[in-house]
Amino acid sequence: MPPRSFLFLFICLGVCFGEDFPILTPPPSKAPRIHGALVYGSRPGKPFLYRIPCTGERPLTFRVSGLPPSLTLDPVNGILSGKAPDQPRSVVLRLEARNRHGKSERRLELRIGDTISLTPPMGWNHWYTHYHGVSDQLFRQAADAMVASGMADFGYSYVSIDDCWMSKPGSPDPSLNGPARDANGAIAPNGRFPDMKGLTAYIHAKGLKAGIYSSPGPLTCAKYTGSYQHEAEDARVFAEWGFDLLKYDWCSYGTIDRTPTVAARRKPYDLMGELLKRQDRDIHLNLCQYGMSDVWKWAPESGGQSWRTTGDLGLEKDTRLPGFYSIAFKNAVLSEYAGPGKWNDPDYILIGVIGNARDIKSPPKRTALTAGEQYSYMSMWSLMASPLFFSGDMGHLDPFTLNILCNSEVIDVNQDALGKQARVVRRTEDEFVLAKPLAGGLVAVGLFNLSEQPRKVSASWADLHLTGRKRVRDVWRQKDIGTGDSEVGFTIERHGVRMVRLAR
Ligand code: GAL
Repeated sequence: MPPRSFLFLFICLGVCFGEDFPILTPPPSKAPRIHGALVYGSRPGKPFLYRIPCTGERPLTFRVSGLPPSLTLDPVNGILSGKAPDQPRSVVLRLEARNRHGKSERRLELRIGDTISLTPPMGWNHWYTHYHGVSDQLFRQAADAMVASGMADFGYSYVSIDDCWMSKPGSPDPSLNGPARDANGAIAPNGRFPDMKGLTAYIHAKGLKAGIYSSPGPLTCAKYTGSYQHEAEDARVFAEWGFDLLKYDWCSYGTIDRTPTVAARRKPYDLMGELLKRQDRDIHLNLCQYGMSDVWKWAPESGGQSWRTTGDLGLEKDTRLPGFYSIAFKNAVLSEYAGPGKWNDPDYILIGVIGNARDIKSPPKRTALTAGEQYSYMSMWSLMASPLFFSGDMGHLDPFTLNILCNSEVIDVNQDALGKQARVVRRTEDEFVLAKPLAGGLVAVGLFNLSEQPRKVSASWADLHLTGRKRVRDVWRQKDIGTGDSEVGFTIERHGVRMVRLAR
């Protein structure tokens, strides 16, 4: 037990593990364990698809009680599908998974109503690994890898296509230079995507969701066909194809209207937001316009469920610290704008084997981030209730990368039903401290060492607006580490983090 009135543990990650890339996440047990958010939003009467995230040795057998008649369960894969109930209401499901090692239960509340994405979306996006080099095949393989790697068992669900799936006017490559649209104005995929409906059906058959990308401008950022003046056709076609998420990227829209007012900046998003709501499916709208005109203040009214708050993370200059830190610092101060169904998006998680946004032709390489930096990255994104989209190579997922992406307690912080983004408790040259209120009166705290030396970083109960004795749990190690009644603090390695959950 720690000394009387405070908890102060002096643990230096580097020394404890004596390795450069210590795996902190305990391996999942063979017995089933259901993960995932405790709330899920769907609009009344819309197609419904939910894969129960569950670790444990397969085969597993799933059961669900409280299921409305419009939904059915695939008991082998744990996939719920059908149509959401017709009327707004709350439906409480009890999920159960069994195998020969035991069973797991979890409550899941379906909130049938107008708000979707009650917790931040989780998935994979191709941009930072494959750039222009995408095809139908690649996304099928990514969906396979999301299941085979176990990522889907922790709640990752979107397999998202970014730019470059449409035609590219003027391209010398015949596979890219087909017609932009058909006779009815419907956007045409390029020759590398022969069957969009088949692709989303493939992804959906695994219980996963499919994401797509367009621009309100005539051309996308990579100069492929955009949606300008075809917004209604495109919204309809994306829905008909079966997409569940649209990233709508400003790109060339500035050539149409450069007026720097909120009204002008909102216009294309208001239009697409409205069109998506009219489709017969729930489509998450991700606004990508790099934070212009304080997008966080109006994006929810435009129909957006998430919005990029900054420029591209992959192009952010490193300072003394890698670029993701400065993106996080900009995003972290916007906590008051986040909540269920409305999330600040600081861009993707760039770890593992990943391409170089400044030199997109160079082959993907292992990230140069240290272990401490990668733990810090994932901790910040979880605490900031950010969408968790991995954008590294799904074909090269190593145990260390999966340990960063797939820690159920870290993800629980991100997916917490209260939907609060952490507030900044402290930011100095050397320290960054975030605190995220969680459902049930708990709080998650991230203590980040920004300095070049091991450093003691702590937060007092006054900093955290807490009183009384609290149990302290190390979230990465999934271990209770003591109690404290006045502060929590650790000696932390250079650019490293300790992330804890404090409970009564
Ligand atoms: C950028 C966007 C990136 C990526 C890229 C595609 O504008 O911020 O996330 O989508 O365009 O060309």
